[in-house]
Amino acid sequence: MHELSKTVAILLLASVLGVVSVAGAEAGFGERPGETIVYSEDSTDPWNRIFQALFVRTVSARRTADLTNDTSLPMTPVRTMGFPDGLLVTAAPIERVEMADRAIEPLYPTTIPLVGLRAFLSGGHYDVLRSALQEALDEKVDRSAMARALMQADVWATYDQLTTITTWDAPDLSIEIRRVAELRPLLARLMRRLALTRQEIEALPDNYSLAARVHPLPRLFRQESGWVELRAMHPRGHEREMDYRRVARVFVKTSRDLSSRYASLEDLQKAGIRKKDLEAAALVLQSLLVAKDRTIIPTRITYSVQVRAFQRDSAGQISTNSLSLFELSRRLLLKEEQSGGMRSVGSDNGVYLPFSGNDFGFATPHRPGGPILGTLHQKCGVCHGFPLTDRFFSLSLPHGVDKQAVSVWSNFVARAPAVAESKSTQSDFLKLMDAWMAEDY
Ligand code: HEC
Repeated sequence: MHELSKTVAILLLASVLGVVSVAGAEAGFGERPGETIVYSEDSTDPWNRIFQALFVRTVSARRTADLTNDTSLPMTPVRTMGFPDGLLVTAAPIERVEMADRAIEPLYPTTIPLVGLRAFLSGGHYDVLRSALQEALDEKVDRSAMARALMQADVWATYDQLTTITTWDAPDLSIEIRRVAELRPLLARLMRRLALTRQEIEALPDNYSLAARVHPLPRLFRQESGWVELRAMHPRGHEREMDYRRVARVFVKTSRDLSSRYASLEDLQKAGIRKKDLEAAALVLQSLLVAKDRTIIPTRITYSVQVRAFQRDSAGQISTNSLSLFELSRRLLLKEEQSGGMRSVGSDNGVYLPFSGNDFGFATPHRPGGPILGTLHQKCGVCHGFPLTDRFFSLSLPHGVDKQAVSVWSNFVARAPAVAESKSTQSDFLKLMDAWMAEDY
């Protein structure tokens, strides 16, 4: 582990996580105070308690001046990525209960190694999770295929995170390692119990199409819409962050017709996929699951959608860049499947700003003072640049990647199987499979 991150992790441990309810705390995006039920209306349901132990946290956050729009509040500047001159944030933090039924990883914050994980393992959430897992394993209740799919994805993410702890060389992790050893078999058993057959996975609804009836989602998957998928076989940042349990698909729409196939990025650039031709770009995260037969199967469940759409002035320069972000809500999808379960995340309630260029996480603490809530424009701009008219990652290649590896593909379907294939050889997955097979449950 990097020395700096190690120090940061230890310093920040105390500042991030707290108890579930705090008097006067506000509720997170789209949530009502105190509401933490996802899988049923019963807060004692073990599935709801598993969700709470993994996701519900009280975060002490500051807001940016752009978000509050209240000039009377005392502000202080913070030096953080994307804002070299300092970012003005409120001097006094607010307490916010995050139910976090969103397109994020459990046990956050996850970007700075061990921060969320250690707080979870040394606090009360660990006991809640252990007893709720045991009850979930003992219960005889029939759960829907969709509920099992959603829960399996979260339990899988938890398993992978716990697996990483043994690889960190941090001082005195003995309690954590013991607790991880208690939880991992329970998680593996529950994953196996929840596993769907391939046919059941294939029969899960296409929530993107359902959500497109209620939200202004681009028609990415329709040939005639002019959107094409960018094929790239190198791992994407979002996939790495999610330990390859989700696939990051990139789509672009240009003023040129790109419906025919091009072999490489160079061909593509010659054919006209240049920034100046871009009308819009989208990034879609698609979930993978482990089927009963222990193979990793792509699902039709979309976890999140991010879109940038551009308007140009008469000289052809990008004049405005509209941003949108849609995230899955498990509760909404389970209650109203026909809605597709997606929610549009705007700036009103604030979004956590990334701490670094590889921070795709949630509520990552900044130094000093913890997480920062800003506007959507600020969040996207930290990585995509200010002004937000530039920086399209998928049109430039990471160092060392073969240019032949990127091309335009209309209706490209091979990415998900390729990501599933690479996950199936990773050590965290092999460990999971050992635990999965260890007992005859
Ligand atoms: C922490 C850095 C980071 C933040 C914050 C971020 N992105 Fe990205 N974005 C990336 C990276 C890196 C890629 C390339 C795909 C990959 O490697 O996963 C990307 C890809 C994209 C793409 C596909 C086109 C391209 O540039 O490759 C879109 C569209 C996009 N992001 C929109 C958004 C929107 C909208 C927001 C704000 C809600 C946002 N991004 C916030 C890092 C970020």
